This record gives sequence, structure tokens and C-alpha cells, in this order.
Amino acid sequence: MKKAIEAAHRVQQNAYAPYSRFPVGAAVVGESGRVYPGANVENAAYPLSRCAEQIAVGGMVAAGERKIRAVVVVTPTSPPATPCGACRQVLAEFADPDTPVICRNPEGEERRYRLGELLPEAFRLKTP
Ligand code: THU
Repeated sequence: MKKAIEAAHRVQQNAYAPYSRFPVGAAVVGESGRVYPGANVENAAYPLSRCAEQIAVGGMVAAGERKIRAVVVVTPTSPPATPCGACRQVLAEFADPDTPVICRNPEGEERRYRLGELLPEAFRLKTP
């Protein structure tokens, strides 16, 4: 977990957030133990901006993994912010409800959650 925490802190510094000035770093740990970092990438056309967590999940999927074992998110606020609703749903696609979500800030303040408490009753597609 130490590796993922370090990666999330490190990648926060690469966030491209000139509009919100709210840099976010994320790291997801895959089943293999590999750590996939992501930072938010904003756009002058604001709705095209991407959250750090979604970039991290994209990296994991692109590398061929399908299961998230842990999530770390670093935001500039105190207390540390939790993932937005959209990111919770994206994480739920690849993670179980008991998956740890560790929220931190650069000062090292930390709050720990389980994905299922952040997004109870996540949407799952059931086709007839
Ligand atoms: N942001 C994330 O990267 N992850 C979240 O879970 C919440 C918000 C980003 C989006 C935007 O670039 C900035 O933080 C302010 O909303």
C-alpha cells in the first residue's frame, strides 16, 4: 500500500488543473499488485475535463487488468476529499464493495473508507 500512496502523492504534482486549481492524484492497485497512477486533466471546454481516478482506471484496463484491490486519492483539502459520484461508479465497475479507498492530502492527513460505503447499491447492468 505504501507504493500506491507514494504514487498518488507523486502524480498529484503532474495534475493539469489550471481552471479549478484543484490538483488530484490517484492510484489504483490491480490484482497483480501493480500500481496505476492518474491525475486530473482539465480542458478549456470544461466538461471535457477528466478526473484522476478515471485516468488511473484507464491505465489499469489498458495494461490488461480487470480488478481493483485498493484505491488512493490525494486532494488539496482538509479533510481530504472523497471521489466524486461519477468516479465512484467507475471504480465500482472493477472493484468490490469492500475495496479500501484511502483519501489523503499532501500534509498526510488520511481518511479510510470502503467503496461500498461511498457508493451503496452501485448501478449494475442486468439485461433480461
Ligand atoms: N476531480 C478529480 O480528479 N476527482 C474527483 O473525484 C473529484 C474531482 C477533479 C475534476 C476537476 O479537474 C477538479 O478535480 C475540480 O473538480
